[in-house]
Amino acid sequence: MTSDYERFPVGRGEIALGDCLTVLRGLPDGAATLAVTSPPYHNAINYEQHAQTLAGEKERWGRIEIQYDEYRQFLMERFKELLRVVAPGGYNVVNIAPVSWQGRRVPLPFHFVGWMEELGWAFREDIVWEKTVARDRRSGVLLQHPYPGYYYPSLVAEYVFVFQRPGERRDRSNIYWHRSDADRAGNEIDLSDYQGEKSKNVWRFRPVAPQENIHPCPYPLELVERVVEFYSYRGDLVVDIFAGSGQTNVAAEKLGRRHLGIDIMREYADYAVSRVRDVSREADSETVETSPAAPGATRDAQRDEADSETVAGDQPTPATS
Ligand SMILES: C[S@@+](CC[C@H](N)C(=O)[O-])C[C@H]1O[C@@H](n2cnc3c(N)ncnc32)[C@H](O)[C@@H]1O
Repeated sequence: MTSDYERFPVGRGEIALGDCLTVLRGLPDGAATLAVTSPPYHNAINYEQHAQTLAGEKERWGRIEIQYDEYRQFLMERFKELLRVVAPGGYNVVNIAPVSWQGRRVPLPFHFVGWMEELGWAFREDIVWEKTVARDRRSGVLLQHPYPGYYYPSLVAEYVFVFQRPGERRDRSNIYWHRSDADRAGNEIDLSDYQGEKSKNVWRFRPVAPQENIHPCPYPLELVERVVEFYSYRGDLVVDIFAGSGQTNVAAEKLGRRHLGIDIMREYADYAVSRVRDVSREADSETVETSPAAPGATRDAQRDEADSETVAGDQPTPATS
């Protein structure tokens, strides 16, 4: 391990503070069974500015200036290293959505699939996360101009793509098919409500409300819990290379998996540690504790704004970015 990042063991796992590329380079081949993440969505959020608003040093946060190709390189380097760290047969689940850039809607998720395939990740599933609550004023354009060519649907969905690291030998190296009977018995999935939404590739979850989490774009805990349950066994290592508020770590902790969350921002890493610690204590004592609430009305209002993408205004992307 290098000194280029800090490690904070908590519960069954740890949060690492640093660039995920550096942290991944220190991990052995095939260490993780499952990777789950939501990367920065290109230019959508300037996390440094957002952290400054948390510290009360800034009123508002904005977008980040980064060229698309530079962003592509950034992601490619990190998901390439992740491919080494996930065991053959293991999955890599990524939540991502289109972004607004230079007045255009950029189909980032569709480019992203090509980038992942180029690296050697096999594409497996495209799941749509439908937001059950979304403030979006786009569709109002047709109400004002009820004519062909004025249709801009409200943006109420993001993608959850599932990739897999190919096993060298399909029969031998599928890490899910070769588990002991005891392992399977201890990890049987409750299918009582499976035939409803869970069996389909449209998942409906409410986005996290601003007062529930200090991060500007956390994904829902229920979403990542579902992923962790479907793609890993108890005791497996689950990695999130852009961990933010630690939703993946919290889900993994609750479900008895080991976990490693990596984030480059100290404010988010500290917050993630405190949240996992709460869950881990809760499990120990079986008492209910609550996570710290997010202070700051300005920030809350701004995130509401980021949830809605308008046609003319080139507003920030929806909830997770
Ligand atoms: C979309 S957010 C992830 C939110 C997270 N899924 C959650 O639920 O809270 C992306 C995160 O990537 C982090 N990040 C950006 N560059 C990074 C890097 N090079 N290494 C690690 N984390 C990074 C940002 O600080 C941000 O928290």
